[in-house]
Amino acid sequence: MHEPLKTIYTRRAVRKYKNQAVDKKLIDEIIAAGRMAPSAMNRQPWKFYVLTDRKQIESLSAAIAKIAEKYFHLSHGMDSSRTTDMIFYHAPVVIFITAPKDNEWAAIDIGMCSQNMMLAAKSLGLDTCPVGFAKYLAQTDKISQLALPADEELKLAIIIGFGDEEPAVHERKKDNVRWL
Ligand SMILES: Cc1cc2nc3c(=O)[nH]c(=O)nc-3n(C[C@H](O)[C@H](O)[C@H](O)COP(=O)(O)O)c2cc1C
Repeated sequence: MHEPLKTIYTRRAVRKYKNQAVDKKLIDEIIAAGRMAPSAMNRQPWKFYVLTDRKQIESLSAAIAKIAEKYFHLSHGMDSSRTTDMIFYHAPVVIFITAPKDNEWAAIDIGMCSQNMMLAAKSLGLDTCPVGFAKYLAQTDKISQLALPADEELKLAIIIGFGDEEPAVHERKKDNVRWL
């Protein structure tokens, strides 16, 4: 299989990480790949807030969990018996991605950017998980730690690290194509 396709088919949402830091050069490379995503009207709306301090990550995670816990049962693949961190899963790197509030295409752009980042990470030997719950940080007083400009909002976080599990593939629905 061609390498890019192999990367696409082997990426998983990983929720268990080795206690191993990620070199800044790799993080920079992953962000550079994110920047290469297409964006509506080439606005490149993304901004990246990178956290690598374990204590800070744990404290943000705890604050988010207080709000997000009522939704845990809806989430696919989360399992509280396997981790004490149900938001960032003790990953060594968290990248919050924001976009301007007034950009109607931002959610799609951020999705494209994030997927680029996750595939880049995979091809560099790292694993990731997109964390939508990260947006609840905005409902806590710890949002001030990101010092976001008033016109920006949190869209998603990507956690990155050396995976310590190999999740099975979730079979994909295949009855969703209509050839016209
Ligand atoms: C927009 C988005 C938000 C997500 N948010 C979370 C999250 O907050 N916590 C989590 O554990 N997984 C989250 N996921 C991961 C999905 O649960 C996961 O991608 C899905 O179960 C398919 O598994 P796979 O990525 O291994 O193929 C999110 C995925 C996406 C695309």
